[in-house]
Amino acid sequence: MPKIILVASFDCVVFGATGDLTLRKLLPALYYRFLDGQMPGDSRIIAAARSDLTDESYRERAAKALHRHVAAVDLQEAAVDRFCERLSYIRVDGTTDRGWDTLGAVLSEMPERVRVFYLATSPELYGPISAHIGRFGLVTPQSRVVLEKPIGHDLASARAINDQVGEVFTEAQTFRIDHYLGKETVQNLLALRFANSIFERLWNTDVIDHVQITVAETVGVEGRAGYYDSSGALRDMVQNHLLQLLCLLAMEPPISLDADAVRDEKLKVLRSLRPIEPHEAGARMVRGQYTQGAVDGQPVLGYMHDLGTAEPSRTETFVALKAEVRTWRWANVPFYLRTGKRLPQKVSEIVIQYRALPFSIFPADGTDLQPNRLIIRLQPEEGMRLEMMTKEPGPGGLRLRRTGLDISFEKAFGTRYADAYERLLMDTVRGNTTLFMRRDEVEAAWAWVEPLIEAWSSSSDLPRPYAAGSWGPTASIAMIARDGRTWHEELG
Ligand code: BG6
Repeated sequence: MPKIILVASFDCVVFGATGDLTLRKLLPALYYRFLDGQMPGDSRIIAAARSDLTDESYRERAAKALHRHVAAVDLQEAAVDRFCERLSYIRVDGTTDRGWDTLGAVLSEMPERVRVFYLATSPELYGPISAHIGRFGLVTPQSRVVLEKPIGHDLASARAINDQVGEVFTEAQTFRIDHYLGKETVQNLLALRFANSIFERLWNTDVIDHVQITVAETVGVEGRAGYYDSSGALRDMVQNHLLQLLCLLAMEPPISLDADAVRDEKLKVLRSLRPIEPHEAGARMVRGQYTQGAVDGQPVLGYMHDLGTAEPSRTETFVALKAEVRTWRWANVPFYLRTGKRLPQKVSEIVIQYRALPFSIFPADGTDLQPNRLIIRLQPEEGMRLEMMTKEPGPGGLRLRRTGLDISFEKAFGTRYADAYERLLMDTVRGNTTLFMRRDEVEAAWAWVEPLIEAWSSSSDLPRPYAAGSWGPTASIAMIARDGRTWHEELG
């Protein structure tokens, strides 16, 4: 199969073109696709934002962003210049009529080609921008709209946004991004499960004791304190990224890789999640907030300081919770999820913990029998490790030791891993929605998370403090310990 699927020339209009996401992620992703020859000659990237900029001044900004966010080895000045020539800037206001005629005139030069409207703005603007796109007649049969997460901040606002966007774009034209689905290793979960019979046959309650999903970050809230404080880890990470990972792990085999076949199965998982009643929330969920500490040997300040307000905030920067999937396959197999900022390591990892042996024939002394464990490292150092018991070599009795079968993807494939946005942007151009969230998925995820949010807002508890650089509040260890289990210790 060719490594690069060629596409016809396209137009990509990026709203929020001066924002962090565009400069940090979208432009570098488009640049890499350009370098790889996946952006045909006259494709155009039309940057749209409210600032008063010219094509030239926007190109300067873009070049600066590329220098900051693209690996030095991939920065060729001539290529950066040629890439920037594809960029133009239009001053457009998503909430008024300013700039829309100009945008319309530019787009109408190429009415037949694929037209991507990328909404890298805050979600409150998704409705108004879509309405303008519709009113100014910019939607063609070849148009698509891309919506960044979060789609709203609860179920009602997500529905409202989906309704507003749905008045202008069909579901097939709507691409709701969860960038975790664009990560190579996340897609590898499909390969692991459905291209290897040894795993899929051992993927159920008969053999699996529990599953852990950890997405840990060392960063704090960076320059996003305003957004983050109104969101928190549950909305920012669990409602989307962690639940999407859970879906890929827990779903039944889809009948094909077609977008709806995969998304139907993921939806079933979301709908089978056991609701957590408000009175149980305290026992099944732990929220934390970082205080000052040290990460990577550097002292860092606490969340309240990062926020820069004197008012105490109840927003959680860490959350751990116990989820259950109510199906025949997963009965009695808890899924423990945790994510947080200012943890000791940046690591995303899934641990499939198999059940203990029903009986041991080995001598008790000198043998620490450990159940098998499959560890899937999503980032960094992407790979997999299957932990098994083996005989320690040498005479002197039969001693067993845990060893691992390791696959390092970098060593196996020796290639740069494309950033999630590179794949997702090209999937959008190609019109492939498999790795995007369907409306009912997003809403089902909110429906599950919402009682947790409500339980929290009706209590007066504060998030539990944890020192930056630790693995979160000790209550998270206690939560899993109550079930006789521990978090994957090698992370600690
Ligand atoms: C984003 C969240 O969706 O994902 C951020 O809004 C978080 O808060 C980021 O830092 C993590 O993504 P990645 O790809 O660095 O794991």
